Amino acid sequence: MTMRLEDARVVSQEPVPGGYYRLRLYAPTVSPQVRPGQFVHVRLPAPADALLRRPFSVYRTEGPDLEILYKPVGRGTRAMTELCPGVRLNLLGPLGNGFPRPSVDHIPLLVAGGYGMAALYLLARESPVRGAVLVGGATSHDILCVPEFERMGWEVRIATEDGSLGHRGLVTDLLDAWGAAPQNSKPPELFACGPHGMLQAVAERAIRNDWTAWLSMDRAMCCGVGACLTCVQKIRDPASPDGWAWVRICREGPVLEARQVVWE
Ligand SMILES: Cc1cc2nc3c(=O)[nH]c(=O)nc-3n(C[C@H](O)[C@H](O)[C@H](O)COP(=O)(O)OP(=O)(O)OC[C@H]3O[C@@H](n4cnc5c(N)ncnc54)[C@H](O)[C@@H]3O)c2cc1C
Ligand code: FES
Repeated sequence: MTMRLEDARVVSQEPVPGGYYRLRLYAPTVSPQVRPGQFVHVRLPAPADALLRRPFSVYRTEGPDLEILYKPVGRGTRAMTELCPGVRLNLLGPLGNGFPRPSVDHIPLLVAGGYGMAALYLLARESPVRGAVLVGGATSHDILCVPEFERMGWEVRIATEDGSLGHRGLVTDLLDAWGAAPQNSKPPELFACGPHGMLQAVAERAIRNDWTAWLSMDRAMCCGVGACLTCVQKIRDPASPDGWAWVRICREGPVLEARQVVWE
């Protein structure tokens, strides 16, 4: 892993429907190194009590620029909405293992909830084979980036809990429908990013159907580089006497295969 520290410069920031913001940063050292599913750890300049870094998936890269798609949920992310062009922002990255390259022997199924679409964009762009994106949210406002994925040749299927867009229900209903009516002789390979409950439900289905599923796990983080153990996750480990072990989501993750994860 080639991890760099860089004072990135804010190029632009704009609100996106659904309460999200798209932040574009000039980061010529970090941006070209980013692989799909990796993240950056961002130190925010203000407020003074938000000194810890915050992890964000890299949504898009374009030469020296990278973009983050984020939702203000607390002190740090609310302060981010105030960032103006020209401001410097210290980045640590790229971090994490990222997604493996999709297998050409499978149909890639990208499963997303919330900012999960952001974490899957680079994978969709760089995948050697196109497949389908299954995206879910509470309402139509939570469904992000659909035109971007369609422009890249991916079929997008949508589920909203209130039925305001696409299927009324959960994204896992779309996955169940896929399993019940396979469109192709190739088996699916799943790549998922979203809330904890969604990932667990995806993992259960993958194991039941004997599908491979790569899950990008969401964990609160402090150091982001494997030192503080804030982000540990229990995994199955046949080599250990107890049959399980801890991994650090910031270092050995954030992407784990569904069969590895012990859900608690
Ligand atoms: C690998 C990784 C990639 C991520 N990518 C993105 C992204 O692309 N876009 C995006 O909007 N967010 C992303 N997140 C989540 C983001 O890091 C948190 O929303 C952010 O750290 C919250 O900071 P805050 O200071 O605003 O909130 P705080 O004041 O620290 O907390 C406010 C609320 O948010 C909750 N919270 C804090 N951290 C997380 C978290 N990791 N997941 C869920 N809830 C959390 C807290 O429990 C609390 O309820 C990612 C997280 C990880 C681990
Ligand atoms: S955040 Fe410190 S070990 Fe992962």
